[in-house]
Amino acid sequence: MTTSLGERLEQLRREVERDLATASSPDDVEELRVRVLGKKGALTREAKAIGALPPEERPAAGETVNTVKNAIEAAIAEALLALQHHALGERLAAEAIDVTLPGRRRGQGTRHPLSIVTAELLDIFRRMGFAVATGPEVETAWHNFEALNIPSGHPAREEMDTLYVDDDVVLRTHTSPVQIRVMESQPPPVRIVCPGRVFRADAPDASHSPYFHQIEGLWVDEGISLAHLKWALTEFVHEYFGPAVGVRFRPSYFPFTEPSAELDIACQVCGGAGCASCKRSGWMELLGCGMVHPAVLEAVGYDSERWTGFAWGMGIERIAINKFGIPDIRMFFENDVRFLHKFAGR
Ligand code: DAH
Repeated sequence: MTTSLGERLEQLRREVERDLATASSPDDVEELRVRVLGKKGALTREAKAIGALPPEERPAAGETVNTVKNAIEAAIAEALLALQHHALGERLAAEAIDVTLPGRRRGQGTRHPLSIVTAELLDIFRRMGFAVATGPEVETAWHNFEALNIPSGHPAREEMDTLYVDDDVVLRTHTSPVQIRVMESQPPPVRIVCPGRVFRADAPDASHSPYFHQIEGLWVDEGISLAHLKWALTEFVHEYFGPAVGVRFRPSYFPFTEPSAELDIACQVCGGAGCASCKRSGWMELLGCGMVHPAVLEAVGYDSERWTGFAWGMGIERIAINKFGIPDIRMFFENDVRFLHKFAGR
C-alpha cells in the first residue's frame, strides 16, 4: 500500500516535532535540519520527486511540500532560539558572581620603623619652627668636605671612609652638605632639619651598615648662641625620650663647628645605672653638635661677623635602636615582614 504525499509529509512533520521536543542542544537541531532539509534530506527528496509527477498534479504537490517545509523551518528556528536562550541562562547562572560574599583581605603594609622615627623627630623640630630640607645623595666633594671646613688631606676625611664616585664626587658621608646647599640658595636666617641617607665604606655587622640615615639641623640668625643650642637640643630630648631623661654635653671636635660637643642621654636600657649596653657608663651618645664654624658661613657667602648659628647631626638608626630595643642595625634593611609588622599601628 502506498501512502499519499500529504500523509508522508504530515508524518515527517510530526517526527520533526517529536525530535525537536527531545533535542537538547543546537547541534541536535542542526543534525535534524540536515536530515530533513539538507541536500539528501527527506523533504528535499519529496520536493525532487515532484518533477516526476504528471504536470497537472505538480502545483498541488508543490504547494503541499512548501507548506510543510515552511512549518518545519519555523519549528526548527523556534527550537533553536529556545535552546540558545536556555544555554545563555545556564551560562549566566554558572558564571554568576556572588557580590555578597566577603572579599579576600589584603594584608595591610606597615610603615618602616625608620620612617616612623624620622616622622616623629621631624615633627618635634617642625613644632620648634624648623623647615624640612633635603639634598642629593651623590654629592660634590666640595659640599661634602671643603665647604664644611674639611680640606683634602684633613684627617677627618679618612675617618669618614668615603665612597668616591670620582675625584670630585662622593656618596655623601653625612647630611651636613645639605646645610651648605640651603645656605647657598638663600640669605639668612635659616632654620632647617634635613633627613636623608648617608654612605660609608663600612663592612656590615650588628652595629655598622654601609648606608644609614641622619637628620641634620641648622639654625642661623643674628645673636644665636650656645644657649640656644643647649635649649633646643635639651628640649628635643625631653620631648622624645621623656621630660626626666638626663642630658649632658661633652666637649668634642668637628671641623665645621667651634666649639663642638657631643650630646649624651641617660642610657635607655639601664636608666643611667650602668649596664652592658652603655659599657657601664650610664650614658649613651646621641648626637654631635656645635656652633657653626665662621669658615662654613664664609664659604656660602654669609657675613660671619653678623650671623651665627648652631648645627647638629644625629643617626636615625641609633635612635630607633634605642627607642625599640633593636639588637642589630641590619634588621632595618633586610625587609623581613615579621620584623616590619612589629611596628604595625605606630
Ligand atoms: N656630620 C657629623 C657626622 O656625620 C655629625 C654632626 C656633628 C653634624 C656636628 C653637625 C654638627 O651639624 O654640628 O658625624
